[in-house]
Amino acid sequence: MSPQQGEPSPLAGKRIVLGVTGGIAAYKAIEISRRLVDAGAHVVPIMTEAAQHFVGTTTLSALASEPVQTELWHNPTTPIPHTEVGQGADLIIVAPATAKAIAAYRMGYSHDLLQNTLIATRAPVIVCPAMHTEMWEHPSVVDNIAVLRERGVHIVDPESGRLAGGDVGAGRLASPESVVAAAERVLGSRDLAGTTVIVSAGGTREPIDSVRVIANRSSGKQGYAVAAEAASRGALVTLVSTVTLPVPSGVEIVAVETAAEMQEAIESRSASTDVIVMAAAVADFRPVSVADHKLKKRDGAPQIVLESTPDILAGLGAAKPAGQVLVGFAAETNDLVANAQSKLERKHLDLIVANDVGAPSVGFAHDTNAVTLLRPDAEPVEIDLAAKRDVARAVINTIVEIRAAAEIETQTGKI
Ligand code: CTP
Repeated sequence: MSPQQGEPSPLAGKRIVLGVTGGIAAYKAIEISRRLVDAGAHVVPIMTEAAQHFVGTTTLSALASEPVQTELWHNPTTPIPHTEVGQGADLIIVAPATAKAIAAYRMGYSHDLLQNTLIATRAPVIVCPAMHTEMWEHPSVVDNIAVLRERGVHIVDPESGRLAGGDVGAGRLASPESVVAAAERVLGSRDLAGTTVIVSAGGTREPIDSVRVIANRSSGKQGYAVAAEAASRGALVTLVSTVTLPVPSGVEIVAVETAAEMQEAIESRSASTDVIVMAAAVADFRPVSVADHKLKKRDGAPQIVLESTPDILAGLGAAKPAGQVLVGFAAETNDLVANAQSKLERKHLDLIVANDVGAPSVGFAHDTNAVTLLRPDAEPVEIDLAAKRDVARAVINTIVEIRAAAEIETQTGKI
């Protein structure tokens, strides 16, 4: 077997300017900075004067890649900081972006270091607004955002939720995860642009009665990571999920619970889909009959008779349209490669991702995974223990390879 590491993030080695403006959500910029640095980016932090009322420069300096810059004048590092920082950037992220910062950027009103940097750069810009709902919905802000979008600025829309002062509504800064995902999308490879992808995630729940279910330990994290990675590379992703994790940005979510619901959601879309990744842990058995009320203890322990669920992946493999790439997962506790190999053949797959769910830090509920990638007529490839997102990147890279090889075959056939 040829060992392989999880692939590096598209942010690795990139110079990212993180502009922090004066809103209560400024504290979240610290977490965004940490995640960008963890992904291998060099983070150049800039804070406006107002931002410093909310968080200290020392905190952000400690978690970025260099000390925070705040001054257009009397800058200790260079006499012309805005052109130097702006021209050297691969990406600028403004998070949080206040209504004032958005208005200034729209107008090119270059009164401070951040605004000067924004208009001195040719790098892509991501703006992450955060403000009260009334402000976010005000026509001036709506208009400014529309103009920035038209100019090609990437806007990471705020989320709905609890705001400062206890109010609830739209305007809360997008999660650090969503901001970093947007950065990956902007800087990442677009090798799946326009490709339609379905990913299933989580364990199905099969009802016994109106309150009880047969479930499994799948957390859905690996499926969500595959969906996020595919979307970051330009794919149009539908995530058919049984769990409620934060939805990766740009991904369409279809919530399901049972194997039958998952089958319906996938089969109704499968014919027009280029890639299907079955990362879900689908129950193999379900109760034959479901009580429409809660079974009572006083009636004694019930005899629950089980029947097999449909094998969704096998069905997709049997009816696979030409050119579609079908990927399965195999959760095994022994004979990993042999068992996964047999599933690969039996279900007519192009790739199977096998994980030894009994190994430490691997599989269900962990943030890390170690897998073996198996393809028909190819040597198995081992991906050593890595973050689930890095494993997802290796899976998507393999899918891109399979699609490229199929493309060459089709072209050669035509000649
Ligand atoms: N799968 C499916 N429908 C099922 C069961 C499994 O689509 N009813 C898919 C899973 O999503 C996964 C692959 O099949 O991609 C393998 O699942 P796994 O549970 O490992 O294998 P099984 O086919 O159930 O075989 P076994 O019980 O022998 O391990």
